[in-house]
Amino acid sequence: MNTKDQLLSVISETCDTSIDKVTVVGAGDVGTACIFTLLSQGVSSNVTIIDVNENKMMGELLDFQHGSLFFNGKVTGCKGNDYSATAGSKVCVITAGARQKTGESRLDLVQKNTEILKGIVPNLVKYSPDTIIIVVSNPCDILAYVTWKLSGLPKNRIIGSGTNLDTSRFRFYIAEKMKVAPESAHAWIIGEHGDTSVAVWSGVSVAGVRLRDLNPAMGTDNDPENWKEIHNKVIRSAYEVIELKGSTSWAIGLSVANITRSILKNSNKIHAISTNIKGMCGIEQEVFLSLPCVLGRNGIIAIIDPHLVEAERCSLKFSAAKMMEVANGIKF
Ligand code: NAD
Ligand code: LAC
Repeated sequence: MNTKDQLLSVISETCDTSIDKVTVVGAGDVGTACIFTLLSQGVSSNVTIIDVNENKMMGELLDFQHGSLFFNGKVTGCKGNDYSATAGSKVCVITAGARQKTGESRLDLVQKNTEILKGIVPNLVKYSPDTIIIVVSNPCDILAYVTWKLSGLPKNRIIGSGTNLDTSRFRFYIAEKMKVAPESAHAWIIGEHGDTSVAVWSGVSVAGVRLRDLNPAMGTDNDPENWKEIHNKVIRSAYEVIELKGSTSWAIGLSVANITRSILKNSNKIHAISTNIKGMCGIEQEVFLSLPCVLGRNGIIAIIDPHLVEAERCSLKFSAAKMMEVANGIKF
């Protein structure tokens, strides 16, 4: 008998299914930030990494595994295009693909990343037909639409990471100006994750007090306090970070873990995430954009009508028109 068999008297089979298995496709800056956060915050105890760059995947895999004493769970990897080890994933996070270079917009990446998704999405669905897919690769709204089409999954199971991140940036800047914690500054960014995002100034509140009741010009061009500059800062955030360090990673990693937790814990928490918003806020096209959504184990449980004022409604329609224009130009 070997040492292990001398030590362990086995009385049942090891359970090899997992209630919180997450696959992360793409082991670049964003993928690794997602994995680190998922593991270190205990959101998932079973993460699988896949990347076409096998050396990169293996290097990141070993690096995470060497730290496994310090988190509860395990990390496995898939080589190349072999998706078999992703089987049974409850959530799949797609971070693979090209990222913006300085000066490029997210929309510039659309065709290249659509081609990449064609090799990824059918494989994920083949091995995890019940999965929920979170699309992070940019432009994440349009690529969530592409993923929905490629996957054949119901719309509640395809989520673009959307403006969950922009909302966090918005709340950070409002909180900084108000000298309260971001958690206590209630505010939403909806629409495109990108240049046409919409700040819902009519709903910004602290401790139940609507800030527009204190400053009716808040968020407009006539505001002596120039709160609108905060939304401009949110729009510029990614460009600024990309110029400074080449990519954005930690904030999106935290945002993805936050979305994943709400799904796996069946929490009914509300997040600004990208979904098919046809029929909401006067939008008549099949277009993926962010609105506040209730998240649970089945993915998107409900979409919230944010009761926008006229200017915000117009901005959301502009965002939708821009998305349609770009989506119509994609070669499938
Ligand atoms: P990166 O270049 O560091 O990593 C991308 C990884 O994808 C690489 O390791 C590459 O080998 C891998 N890859 C390419 N094709 C693949 C395929 N077919 N299958 C598996 N892996 C593949 O880039 P990054 O900084 O990690 O950014 C990744 C994406 O995330 C970009 O599109 C970027 O714009 C986007 N992003 C989105 C948000 C958001 O809020 N939605 C935030 C930051 C970045
Ligand atoms: C972001 C990416 C680049 O950090 O979409 O906003």
